[in-house]
Amino acid sequence: MRLPHLLLSCAAFMLAVTVFSAQPATEAEIEIAVGKLLSQMTLAEKLGQMSQQHYDTKSLTNPVSSANAVRNGQVGSFLNPDSAETVNKLQKVAVEESRLKIPLIFGIDVIHGYRTLFPIPLGQSCSWNPELIEAAGRVAAVESSSAGIRWTFAPMLDIARDARWGRIAETLGEDPYLTGQLGAAMVRGFQGKDLTAPDSIAACAKHYVGYGAAEGGRDYNTTLIPEAELRNIYLPSFRAAKEAGVQTFMSAFNDLNGVPTSGNVFTLRQVLQKEWGFDGFVVSDWESIKEMIAHGAAADLHGAARLGINAGVDMEMVSTSYRDHGAALLREGAISTAMLDDSVRRILRVKFRLGLFSNPYTDTTRPSPLLSEENLRVARALATESMVLLKNEKSLLPLSANTKTIAVIGPLADSAVDMRGCWSCRGEASECRTVYSVFKDYVGAKSKVLYAPGLEHASSTDTSEIAAAVKAARKADVVVLCIGEPHELSGEARCRAFIDLPGAQDQLISAVAATGKPIVLVVFGGRPLTFANAAAKAQSILYAWHPGTMAGPAICDLLFGRANPSGKLTTTFPRTVGQIPLYYNHKNTGRPVPLDPKAAQTPLGTAEDPKGYYSQYLDIPQAPAYPFGFGLSYTTFAYSDLKLEAPDANGAIIATVTIANTGTRDGVEVAQLYTRQLVGTLTRPVKELKSFQRVALKAGEQRSVRFELPKHSLGYYDNTGRFLLEPGKYHLWIAPNSAKGAPVEFVLPTQ
Ligand code: NOJ
Repeated sequence: MRLPHLLLSCAAFMLAVTVFSAQPATEAEIEIAVGKLLSQMTLAEKLGQMSQQHYDTKSLTNPVSSANAVRNGQVGSFLNPDSAETVNKLQKVAVEESRLKIPLIFGIDVIHGYRTLFPIPLGQSCSWNPELIEAAGRVAAVESSSAGIRWTFAPMLDIARDARWGRIAETLGEDPYLTGQLGAAMVRGFQGKDLTAPDSIAACAKHYVGYGAAEGGRDYNTTLIPEAELRNIYLPSFRAAKEAGVQTFMSAFNDLNGVPTSGNVFTLRQVLQKEWGFDGFVVSDWESIKEMIAHGAAADLHGAARLGINAGVDMEMVSTSYRDHGAALLREGAISTAMLDDSVRRILRVKFRLGLFSNPYTDTTRPSPLLSEENLRVARALATESMVLLKNEKSLLPLSANTKTIAVIGPLADSAVDMRGCWSCRGEASECRTVYSVFKDYVGAKSKVLYAPGLEHASSTDTSEIAAAVKAARKADVVVLCIGEPHELSGEARCRAFIDLPGAQDQLISAVAATGKPIVLVVFGGRPLTFANAAAKAQSILYAWHPGTMAGPAICDLLFGRANPSGKLTTTFPRTVGQIPLYYNHKNTGRPVPLDPKAAQTPLGTAEDPKGYYSQYLDIPQAPAYPFGFGLSYTTFAYSDLKLEAPDANGAIIATVTIANTGTRDGVEVAQLYTRQLVGTLTRPVKELKSFQRVALKAGEQRSVRFELPKHSLGYYDNTGRFLLEPGKYHLWIAPNSAKGAPVEFVLPTQ
């Protein structure tokens, strides 16, 4: 083609561009708009939409080249922008200076709050309170959207059965059903009722899939998960998020049965797209496309891009293999135009759904929603409900406000930075309230509060300050000992081979306990810790996780009885790291340990033969330190009269139980419904959580609580992906935790 002709056709091409600035009213209109836009896009522009870059003024991306990339249509999204101003500046280039004026989408990890920090997700899950978790998600959306963020990389829906894994902190526990329920609540909170509202943000179900099954609890490690296990344990929470309308998924870092999850045709194309009909888009994890080279699944970036695009990872985070190799792959026929179009269509669809075409900018004149009174109220409520009372001998708690002298001891009693948790986003340590900082507000005028950290830092091995802590304890009537794991020992890449209290904390606890003063332990952590020595020496234990901005007020509300603990564990606490993996919904094995553990166990140090050939360890009791679902209250609850009603017309299983508050305080009980299929084509778990209810009961009150279980919730998948709902005998419990209660039996008739 001669030059004048080329110029002419370019000009014609430019003129033909249709720009979308009105919000399509319906999904059908969105599809039409997406189709029109797609038909005008060059290959480079398509690959640009499929690229997400890290925004960092200091290192990776300088603002000038970011703007150029946007102008040239080489990037469709940024993660981690630093402010609404940055967002607006780049957005202006996108919608005014780029050829097709396609807005950018900006994302960040708003995992447990943006500026107002909520407890880490593992803590949040112990509230078993979807409404409150949804409210927290809403707060996070309102706060982050005020800074131009319209997309969060949350909720994390991985199932974790290994407390060594640092990312257990980000999970919603070990149970597939509960994770699905709470994850869906987060999705609703983030996305709001109207996705186009400027304070709604798209959620992202991650890390798809199996990431939590990392061998040995080591982050990024290999996962080997049979299909039945994948479908029964690891996929349901993602499906629940899809049903809740989640707009995006993130493919994970791990390889799954030998195939990296960021190039996994089975999980992405077959399950997510085909079986579930997901129509949003999938973003890779940070360079997880490129990492397929290190996995040994691709020889180079060219091969990595081929795997990612073929599998249906629509957007590449940070690495640029799509952008750099997409055209060559297309020429070679290694990928198809249909695949690229499908990916771009998905990305544009979500951008339209968010209203970004009609409303690309962030209104910086809105009054700042950050850390508002209401946001702090939600944070305090969720922190309070996330904490789990593990022990309360002789009702040491709640403390009387008139206790004469209280010693607040421990390296975490006044460590604001450690209250934040593993994904503190834009939360500032200086805004987090510690136990010690608010303690005085809770005690009477005549009470004395002594403070001694005992250790400079939670991981410190320098014992020189322990003497001062002992001195304070001696002068006190009661000791509140704040111990645990500092925030930097949990989260991504923060795996531990030992999950004991770090540093010299055990020495501190032993020295304080030697004073004979009653001890209330407040334990912080991003995971279940093994802390048997400390636990044995304390009368009361409150497990507080990393509670976020309102840590101190929430803890003190509980310590002084302004609130009554209702949190229940969502992860099994092992006695020792050697028991891991340890989870309540395990299989029975052919050699289950007899109910009387003494009959089974041979104490070490004896010359006896093992007493029985059981599936057990000889050197510890088999039960966990604290089971899944466990948590105490300042009141007590009694369960009675568990009954099954005749199934309704749809064959739903209806169970009722009477729950009584038998103590002297009002309280909330989280009642848990478990089932077990006694005989199955595949071996079945000894218990599976199928439902739960939070039941508020006044002191002395009792109520009949009704559960209705759809029949299909008793079904499961086999290793060929077939769903089985099998007739036969089942057990059903409604109980205060996974280790309690007697079941009723029922028969599911042949369908
Ligand atoms: C890597 C983490 O695995 C993922 O959870 C996070 O969303 C991305 N980095 C982006 O920060």
